Amino acid sequence: MASFFVTTREREVIEVEGIDGLSVMELIRDAGIDELLAQCGGCLSCATCHVQVDPADSDRLPPMKPDEDYLLDSSDHRVATSRLSCQLPFSSELDGLRVTIAPEG
Ligand code: FES
Repeated sequence: MASFFVTTREREVIEVEGIDGLSVMELIRDAGIDELLAQCGGCLSCATCHVQVDPADSDRLPPMKPDEDYLLDSSDHRVATSRLSCQLPFSSELDGLRVTIAPEG
């Protein structure tokens, strides 16, 4: 079973089952981690699905599109490896991925 690891704002690390075809955001939400608000449901208009990807994993992710880049700029907590998790389709190639839920705001 492919899976990935989510660090919450309380620094708890939770292993989440990975299902091909769902986004990392959907998988985090479906795992009951409700601090990832994902308010727009994945329409790329809210940035509340912001995660900071472990630098060791950033090369495994698909390239960022301009709209995602633009939305991430609205966050005070953007780092070099920030991504919007609704834009990350999970596949077994991402097995073991590590992401941290970005601080609010
Ligand atoms: S859920 Fe809104 S931008 Fe990702």
